Amino acid sequence: MAEKYLTRSFDPAGPRSFKTYADTGGYSGARKALAEMTPAMVMGEVKAAHLRGRGGAGFPAGLKWGFIPQASPAPKYLCVNADEGEPGTFKDRYILAHDPHLLLEGVVIVSYAVGIHKAYVYVRGEYEELARRLEEAISEAVSQGALGENIFGSGFSLNVLVHRGAGAYICGEETALLESLEGYRGQPRLKPPFPASVGLFGNSTVINNVETLANLPGIILHGADWFLGLGKPKDGGTRLYSVSGSVVKPGVYELPTGTSLREIIFTHAGGLAPGRTLKAVIPGGLSSAILLPGEIDVAMDCDSLAAAGSMIGSAGIIVIDDGVSMKTVLDRVTKFYAHESCGQCTPCRVGTSWIRRIVRRMNGGGRRADDLDRIARLAEAMKGRTFCPFGDAAALPVLALIGKFRTELEG
Ligand SMILES: Cc1cc2nc3c(=O)[nH]c(=O)nc-3n(C[C@H](O)[C@H](O)[C@H](O)COP(=O)(O)O)c2cc1C
Repeated sequence: MAEKYLTRSFDPAGPRSFKTYADTGGYSGARKALAEMTPAMVMGEVKAAHLRGRGGAGFPAGLKWGFIPQASPAPKYLCVNADEGEPGTFKDRYILAHDPHLLLEGVVIVSYAVGIHKAYVYVRGEYEELARRLEEAISEAVSQGALGENIFGSGFSLNVLVHRGAGAYICGEETALLESLEGYRGQPRLKPPFPASVGLFGNSTVINNVETLANLPGIILHGADWFLGLGKPKDGGTRLYSVSGSVVKPGVYELPTGTSLREIIFTHAGGLAPGRTLKAVIPGGLSSAILLPGEIDVAMDCDSLAAAGSMIGSAGIIVIDDGVSMKTVLDRVTKFYAHESCGQCTPCRVGTSWIRRIVRRMNGGGRRADDLDRIARLAEAMKGRTFCPFGDAAALPVLALIGKFRTELEG
């Protein structure tokens, strides 16, 4: 079985047009779903495939769609999360840049399964070029009958709109995304109710990541067993691993879910520069707990990373070699979260800014003996006590850094 599926036909020269996509089998999954399957069959296939969300939380996609109340006559919405703000992550951009129709085909499939007729793609404001290309792809798809009224003559209709965000990390959080999309300040909503029951404009809403949806055409065309065969029994398919930092060949690598972190770094990303040794790896975007060199024989899937005390998150792998100071890493991490905290709840607003102030003073030569303990106490006070998961995302990497690199940070 080929290891690559999502990226197998990517053209380095630029995004594939409708014609080049369709000529290599593109839109066959959507055609099959619309012509040969009921919405319940599509949902059943995706549930059986154990497709877990690629946006960070790893929630099974089919299960999430199942929470949408089918009986209600009210409109339902799809929001595609193309905010991709997690540092160290650049795989959704890779899909949008090379194959916007792969995403659009996935959008048709989920919308058909759930009974959605209006979808929004929320694109981070900085990705203007990608938003423009996506709009071109949507126009092309409409003109070819793959979107809009009566898709491929099936009677099913779907409108897709691109919405540009303004570039805030918190707007990647699904409820802050909804607020932003409705025109309000991008701050999270209290959950429950979850978007499946009260989402965009108060209606039932599915929110999925770009890569999650890009997997749907393959699942429908080749079936759940094929998809499971690519990955792990409870975590099917391949993943797009973004690899950056101290490696010879940084980039996006499509490999089976469950590939070992060591293999990704040393076999696929070319290992470290000559003479350098590995110091640490952040395995799943900046919000995931850092791992030591002795911990990288871990399989890159949701459950294995959790068992190792970290998380796969967005699968953004940041490699750190012995030339990098952990004081610099702590500085960057705390600067990012203090800057991006939306300020809505006190533990996060105050906690991230106090941690930041202490780190700046420490790194400016004014370190006090109990600084790291003070930072750890502040991080512990945020963990599990903030309005949204941002507080955990800010606290966990700091606690892991202190836990594993205390001696260096104190030096
Ligand atoms: C602070 C924060 C930032 C997030 N940023 C993103 C993001 O940029 N892209 C994304 O797909 N999910 C992001 N998420 C996760 C979303 O809230 C949500 O779980 C995801 O879009 C659901 O899609 P999935 O089930 O397909 O993964 C973020 C979550 C948090 C707490």
